Amino acid sequence: MAVITIIGTNYVGAVYAAAFADLGNQVYGVDIDERKVQLLSEGISPIYEPGLDELVTRNLKAGRLRFTTCYDEAVPVSEFVFICVGTPSSFSGEADMRAVRSAAEMIGKTIRGHTIIINKSTMPIGSGDLVTSIINQVKSPDATFAVVSNPEFLREGSAVQDVFNPSRIVLGAEDREAAERVAELYSALNAPVLITDRRTAEMIKYASNAILATRISFINEIAQICEQYQADVKVVAQGMGLDPRIGPLFLDAGIGFGGSCFPKDVKALSYMAQEAGCHPQLLHAVLEINQDQRRRFVHKLQTMVGDLHQRPIAIWGLSFKQDTDDIRESPAIDVVRMLIQRGAIPRCYDPAAMDNAREVVPEAEYFDDPYEAVRGTDALLVLTPWNEFKQADLGRVADLMRQPVLLDGRNLYDPADVRRLGFRYAGVGR
Ligand code: UDX
Repeated sequence: MAVITIIGTNYVGAVYAAAFADLGNQVYGVDIDERKVQLLSEGISPIYEPGLDELVTRNLKAGRLRFTTCYDEAVPVSEFVFICVGTPSSFSGEADMRAVRSAAEMIGKTIRGHTIIINKSTMPIGSGDLVTSIINQVKSPDATFAVVSNPEFLREGSAVQDVFNPSRIVLGAEDREAAERVAELYSALNAPVLITDRRTAEMIKYASNAILATRISFINEIAQICEQYQADVKVVAQGMGLDPRIGPLFLDAGIGFGGSCFPKDVKALSYMAQEAGCHPQLLHAVLEINQDQRRRFVHKLQTMVGDLHQRPIAIWGLSFKQDTDDIRESPAIDVVRMLIQRGAIPRCYDPAAMDNAREVVPEAEYFDDPYEAVRGTDALLVLTPWNEFKQADLGRVADLMRQPVLLDGRNLYDPADVRRLGFRYAGVGR
C-alpha cells in the first residue's frame, strides 16, 4: 500500500484517484475547486462517466479515499504525487501550462522527505524539466524528489474500464528507480511496462493521439472519395481492417473527431513542431480534413432539403461521442451552430449533454424526448453514436416528421433498412 496524492480531480484525476484507492492505496484527491471537492466527498462525480460514482463511493466508504482543497493535508504525507490538471489549447495551439506551473509550485512548497512526482496530464515535450525546475526553486532544502512522466490513455465514457485494463504503462524518467517504483503501483493490472527517458514518454502520448486522429481523417477522406464512386466506406474499412498491419479500430468515418484530447493534442504537437523549425504537413491536413468534414455534412443536408431558412431540423446527439456529456470541440455543436447561421431551427436531443449544450448554444431548441425533437421536422441529423439512437424506432420517427430525410453522421444504420421505411437517407461515404 502506498500513500498517493492526485492533484486535479477532473476526469483523469478523479478516475485515477478512485482507481488507485480501489487497488488498496491511501489516496488524497486535491483540487482548488471547492465545489468539486464537496461533490466528490459525497460520492458524486462532477463529470458524467459511467461507473465512476460507484467507484468513488466504494472507496470513500472504505476510508481509502479523501478529497480536499488543502495541499498541506495531502502532499507532505505522500510518497507519490500525480499531476492531473488540465493543459488546454491556447489561441496559438500551444498547450496552456498555467495550471501545471501552479500545481508544481504548490507541490514544491509542500513536499517532505523523498517524493516521486508524476506528470500524468498530457504535457508538451520538456515539461518534466519545467516541473523539476519549478519545484527546485521553492522546495525546502531537505526535501528530495524525482519527476516521472506517465501519460494516460483513458477514453471518456470508458475511463473506468480503461483504468483497470491499460494497454500499456509508459514511464519516462531520468531516475530509473523512481520509474520502477511507479510501475509497482500498476503491478496488479498486468499491463506491459515501457520505461524510457522523460521526453520520449511525453512524445509517446502525442504521437499516439496524433496517429488515431490521422486514421479518422484518413478514413473521412476515403469516405469522400467513396461517395463520388458509389463505394461503401464502412465495408472498405472492414476490408482494410482484416489486414493485421492495419487493424479494424479507429476507421469509422463520420463527421469527425472532437473531445478534449485529439484536437488539442494534434494542435499542440503541430505547434511544437513548428517552434522547432519542422513542417508538420500531415498534422495540418489531419486538422483541416476534420473541420471540412462538418462543413461537407451541412452542405449535404442543403443539397437534400434545399434552403435551410426557417426549416425545423432534428438533431440527435450533441456530445463529441457516445456515453459522455462532454461537448468540448464536439463536431455536433459545430453543426448546430452552422444550421443556426443558415437560419434553420435546430430541435435537439441528447441523452446526457443537453445542459452543457444549452449553455453554449442557447438559440437552439431542446427536447427531453428524442421523438418530440423530430416532430414536424424536415430532416433528422444523427451526430453522436449513442446506442439509444441505434435502437430507435425509425418507423415512428418517419411518421412524426414533415418529410422523412435522415442524415446519418455516424453511419449507424443500414441504408437499405432505412430506405425501406420511406426515408431519403445519406450516411458518410456510403
Ligand atoms: C482519446 C484517446 O482515445 C485516449 O487514449 C486519450 O487519452 C484521450 O483522447 P477520447 O477523446 O475520450 O479519447 O475519445 P475517443 O474514443 O478516442 O474518440 C475521439 C473522437 O474521435 C470522438 O469524437 C469520436 O467520435 C471520434 N472517432 C473515433 C471517429 O470519428 N472515428 C473513429 O473511428 C473513432
